[in-house]
Amino acid sequence: MPPPTDLASPAPHHLPKGKTVPVTNAQRTPTESLSPASDQVAPWWRQAAVYQVYPRSFADANGDGLGDIPGITSRVGYLAGLGIDAVWLSPFYPSELADGGYDVADYRDVDPRLGTLADFDAMVAALHDRGIKVVVDIVPNHTSNRHAWFEEAIAAGRGSAARDRYVFRDGRGPDGAEPPTDWESLFGGPAWERVADGQWYLHNFAVEQPDLNWHSPEVRADFVRTLRFWSDRGVDGFRIDVAHMLTKDLTEPLPSRAELAAMPIDGTHPLVDRDDVHEVYAEWRRVFNEYDPPRTAVAEAWVDSSRVPLYASPEGLGQAFNFELLEADFDPGQFRRIVTDNLALAARSGSSTTWVLSNHDVVRHATRYGLPDPGRGPDGRPARKHGSDWLLSGGTEPALDRARGLRRARAAALFVLGLPGAAYLYQGEELGLHEVAEIPDAQRQDPTFFRRRGEDIGRDGCRVPLPWTASGTSFGFGSADPHLPQPAWLGAHAVDVQERDPQSTLRL
Ligand code: GLC
Repeated sequence: MPPPTDLASPAPHHLPKGKTVPVTNAQRTPTESLSPASDQVAPWWRQAAVYQVYPRSFADANGDGLGDIPGITSRVGYLAGLGIDAVWLSPFYPSELADGGYDVADYRDVDPRLGTLADFDAMVAALHDRGIKVVVDIVPNHTSNRHAWFEEAIAAGRGSAARDRYVFRDGRGPDGAEPPTDWESLFGGPAWERVADGQWYLHNFAVEQPDLNWHSPEVRADFVRTLRFWSDRGVDGFRIDVAHMLTKDLTEPLPSRAELAAMPIDGTHPLVDRDDVHEVYAEWRRVFNEYDPPRTAVAEAWVDSSRVPLYASPEGLGQAFNFELLEADFDPGQFRRIVTDNLALAARSGSSTTWVLSNHDVVRHATRYGLPDPGRGPDGRPARKHGSDWLLSGGTEPALDRARGLRRARAAALFVLGLPGAAYLYQGEELGLHEVAEIPDAQRQDPTFFRRRGEDIGRDGCRVPLPWTASGTSFGFGSADPHLPQPAWLGAHAVDVQERDPQSTLRL
């Protein structure tokens, strides 16, 4: 979830979402021509409507307050009713939840609180039965500190092969008590953490998320094994977390934070968007193409738009998120520029454009559109993260115009669903949900809240469990209190209310 720069991805031909139509050879990319199934139709992902499920907040079948895999299976009818082509599941793997599941302790299992591999298989079968594809989240930049590899690295000590799967360094100063560099984690605070024997490890995100060393052949081989593991279980595609950060050049002497900031991000930067990351994705593409149809991937890459085609290339991941609408105001000039730029980028890659209005990392767009624009810096980007001041004030300042935000969210949804390319919709978007500001500090979970307290309240407000019914415990989410508290107003937006109302956002 690094601060976005300017990301866009290209768009091909105009097709209705989810429809497969004959393509000509001229329209076909090299990847597509590899697929026997693509001889007659365009691959599903090019024009798909993909619905993002945040599993711990979707539906709780076993009554422990945490959404789970059987909960998703129980709602397959609802998902089919949305007319979506695919679901993307945020991480459901074993995790200590230091970062909402993006701290993965085992890449090839299901968190026991969310179910079992058999539950996962049943969910995939139920979704496939309804013609819905399944995309899972892969988190390759870092593991959890509870991953067996990290525990082994701590036990094995300095200089060990186990430590070489991560980025360990000696500290500076007397007794190495100073971190190796003054780098900052993207979640705030230092990017290095000291372990008992005095060495330090790098974590670009939370302390509980040690960065992997992508120069290690073992790390590379293990992720290929993970991709095969899920592909063999019938998973159709992958969303690649922080795809632009895996490979690093950590040749000594390491640069300072100021030196890093002055370096161009042109493929040679030590930490981000390095050209050599595409060697990893070229290998993954060969694996994806062993399957019929080829497995798909979409990159979460916060990079300059000029570099997006590298990620979206048919020789690489094949598709990349275009996050520009996450930062745009509801403004025709901004929308027009974003659409025009992204259509132009289409010419540079064989992929299709993606459109994203909300996800699990940003303030929901119904709320963004009901708040004043935060103002723009010289680069055209928001001067402050949109909605962050409102969240910090507990949802009082500036005043939120809920009705206006919702009207605009509905219009924006129609707009992106009518554009060429794939639309990625975040759970609750179909209900026109607003961000939840009313979460007591004691119940907050997001590491950004703890590491940047006072400055950033974190992302819990878009991760509050969905309301399924107007009343009842947790508005039908489950039989227990939900893991994040739901405000009273949420019930009025429940699925059962909206299903009955012909004017509702859901019916729209
Ligand atoms: C991505 C995820 C975000 C997570 C971060 C670290 O940006 O979308 O939720 O915190 O990666 O894994």
